Amino acid sequence: MLDLTGKIALVCGAGAVGAGYGNGKATAVLLARQGAKVFGTDINPAAIEDTRAIVEKEGGTFVAHVCNMTVAAEVKAMVDACVKQFGRIDILVNNCGGSAPGDPVAMSEEVWDTQLDLNLKTAFLGCKYVLPVMEQQGSGAIVNVSSVAGFAHRVGSRIDVAYSTSKSGLVGFTQSTAMAYIKKGIRCNLVILGTMHTPLVEARLMKQLGPKEAAELVAKRHAAVPIGRMGDAWDSANAILFLASDEARYITATHLTVDGGLTAARPG
Ligand SMILES: NC(=O)c1ccc[n+]([C@@H]2O[C@H](COP(=O)([O-])OP(=O)(O)OC[C@H]3O[C@@H](n4cnc5c(N)ncnc54)[C@H](O)[C@@H]3O)[C@@H](O)[C@H]2O)c1
Repeated sequence: MLDLTGKIALVCGAGAVGAGYGNGKATAVLLARQGAKVFGTDINPAAIEDTRAIVEKEGGTFVAHVCNMTVAAEVKAMVDACVKQFGRIDILVNNCGGSAPGDPVAMSEEVWDTQLDLNLKTAFLGCKYVLPVMEQQGSGAIVNVSSVAGFAHRVGSRIDVAYSTSKSGLVGFTQSTAMAYIKKGIRCNLVILGTMHTPLVEARLMKQLGPKEAAELVAKRHAAVPIGRMGDAWDSANAILFLASDEARYITATHLTVDGGLTAARPG
């Protein structure tokens, strides 16, 4: 089950912000554990080296490549390097993303643009350069990474209008891309992640709130999830692994929500 032996996986945003496992890092490590050879990219050289060291220590294969996924020329060069190294790409995980606060009035045009670039354009560029490789092979599986922030919104606290917009935009992007390639042996799906307790979140809260208030907010967020806790990076990685695997061969153009019941709950 979920064996990826012989497969080449390209994981974008495969480092993590801060210590521990983010969604991309855990995904890269898990895919390697399942037998895939992983080509991991990140904008942060130290972060991607850290992931490489973990995979290699576990006996897996990992090539680290520094790339800004918002820049087309860098993405093209990165995909070319992956094909040169491994000859094919079976799995693409578009994991790059992150949120910035603001409603339409408070948010600057510059932040809006950079948010859409980071959360939406990165998936577009990943697909743009990997799909021709998969088409030539006649096979491939793509997993894009969204957030419940695209589908449910806070009342009376932080609004991330550009993040929400781009993460819900990934639904249309994923479905239309899936349909464009459905006759070519390529699947394209989305994971919609809930409140995951990852280093990026921890680092942001510590910076914004300081240790005491950050710890209080983390406890509140755990309690707010129906299942009783926030998810972690491995919960994300397990869902991505399934959608990327051959066991999901009949699944395309859809999404898997990984949120501990969060978006199905209502006050009552
Ligand atoms: N953490 C959460 O609670 C949560 C919830 C829902 C969705 N998500 C989504 O999961 C994904 C990963 O988030 P995470 O919290 O695990 O972060 P993470 O720890 O995986 O960090 C993301 C990685 O992407 C890299 N990166 C950032 N910009 C890049 C760029 N332009 N090009 C290449 N690499 C870049 C960072 O250096 C970092 O290593 C994002 O798409 C995020 O929106 C996270």
